[in-house]
Amino acid sequence: MKSACLSLLLVSVCWALPFRQSGFMDFMIEDEQGSGSPMPPTRRPPVQTPPVLTEEPEGSFCPFRCQCHLRVVQCSDLGLKNVPEKIPLDSTLLDLQNNKISEIRENDFKGLKGLQTLILVNNKITIIHAKALSSLINLERLYLSKNLLKDVPANIPKSLQELRIHENQITKIKKSSFAGMANVIVMELGSNPLSSSGVDNGAFADLKRVSYIRIADTNITSIPKGLPSSLFELHLDGNKITKVTADSLKGLKNLSKLGLSHNEISVVENGSLANVPHLRELHLDSNMLTSVPAGLPEHKYIQVIYLHSNKIAAVGTEDFCPPGYNTKKAMYSGISLFSNPVPYWEVQPITFRCVFDRSAIQLGNYRKK
Ligand SMILES: *[C@@H]1O[C@H](CO)[C@@H](O)[C@H](O)[C@H]1NC(C)=O
Ligand SMILES: *[C@@H]1O[C@H](CO)[C@@H](O)[C@H](O)[C@H]1NC(C)=O
Ligand SMILES: *[C@@H]1O[C@H](CO)[C@@H](O)[C@H](O)[C@H]1NC(C)=O
Repeated sequence: MKSACLSLLLVSVCWALPFRQSGFMDFMIEDEQGSGSPMPPTRRPPVQTPPVLTEEPEGSFCPFRCQCHLRVVQCSDLGLKNVPEKIPLDSTLLDLQNNKISEIRENDFKGLKGLQTLILVNNKITIIHAKALSSLINLERLYLSKNLLKDVPANIPKSLQELRIHENQITKIKKSSFAGMANVIVMELGSNPLSSSGVDNGAFADLKRVSYIRIADTNITSIPKGLPSSLFELHLDGNKITKVTADSLKGLKNLSKLGLSHNEISVVENGSLANVPHLRELHLDSNMLTSVPAGLPEHKYIQVIYLHSNKIAAVGTEDFCPPGYNTKKAMYSGISLFSNPVPYWEVQPITFRCVFDRSAIQLGNYRKK
């Protein structure tokens, strides 16, 4: 029955149990059913009506002005001040972005056991009731970016795989914020007013499967401690990090991309790179480094290293490549060194003997004043 309804959806309007319909279809229901009391769904010939998708095939209502289709409830850009009522209980995706919702109340999502994706981006949310998310036992993606939240919401379902909560007012990531969230794969926390102590030690420790963490454009001054060993990409650009300690990267055996551009890093401790043996890309441009980080020649996989816009005054022939022409090392495909005080004509060409192609090196351009 359901699939029959779905396939008819575009040529006709298929509804099963209209009970208190609102909108222009009212008279048709009256016509066909008379009393308006619920009737069991019946097959009927296609009716030539405009394709206005106001009903779900299963007989639940679609909130006023939203569109419901294939268990997707689309209520974006409607100026809504609250989460609408009567969201079909079998919905899998609820899109409420670009509205004016300021609060998520305790029962706003009650019974939405099948919901997998909840989009609340670009509202005015300051409060999410501590129990509001508890009923979403199958939630996988929660998008809360561009709101006014001061905290990570409590009781995020353990099923969650992706949390995007950048551009809020969060000042602190507490150790309890992500407790037990073993299914998270993607975590986006950037552009929040986190300061030096804004991330508790071990705040991410329970994220045993996390592959991507981004905490860019905040004011944290160090790399968060106790990052999970499953991490594949770590983006910490645009912060106030002053130092890369070897310790902070310990155990990140799968880390492949590390973004640390636009920080205030003057030191990369010796041993840091040895702790991330599978690193392929390292972005350290726009920092305060005075030398090329140690450990590059011994590093087997690194292929891209951005060091432009630092204070590097000298580059040695052993800074990037192992002695001689050791081919166990992956060739570099990108090295940038421009906007450093080193006079580029003083850098020996042999320095780049393990670079794939000359065009992979960006060297010149430094202007002193
Ligand atoms: C970081 O600090 C600066 C000045 O201390 C402030 O102007 C800026 O808004 C802060 N950024 C964030 C994302 O909190
Ligand atoms: C590292 O990556 C491999 C291959 O993708 C995966 O099998 C392994 O579980 C990962 N290690 C951790 C600690 O997640
Ligand atoms: C870094 O540490 C290694 C091993 O401890 C040592 O051999 C090497 O000289 C050190 N490099 C620098 C630049 O301190």
